[in-house]
Amino acid sequence: MSKQIQPFTIRLPQYDKEFLCAAEESVLDAALKHGLMLANSCRNGTCRTCLCRLQSGQITYQIEWPGLSFDEKAEGYILPCVAKPLSDLVLLDWVLSQA
Ligand code: FES
Repeated sequence: MSKQIQPFTIRLPQYDKEFLCAAEESVLDAALKHGLMLANSCRNGTCRTCLCRLQSGQITYQIEWPGLSFDEKAEGYILPCVAKPLSDLVLLDWVLSQA
């Protein structure tokens, strides 16, 4: 599989927002860089504050075992603070932070 160099498009249809994310950066880092105040805390895949659902697209993780159960993974839940895109993504249920 060839690596895509250009950034991927991350869509948040619930908020009518989208932003670009490079293949080597976390989805959370890209969202924050684009001024989207989305829920996060530990930024290392353990607290689950950023938990959201991947409606479409593919990701890979920066860490070996993010804080998700096997069932949650199977249901499409991801932790975007440690997820890197492998394609364009559509994400659901990522809570806007209060900050
Ligand atoms: S911010 Fe803690 S798991 Fe993502």
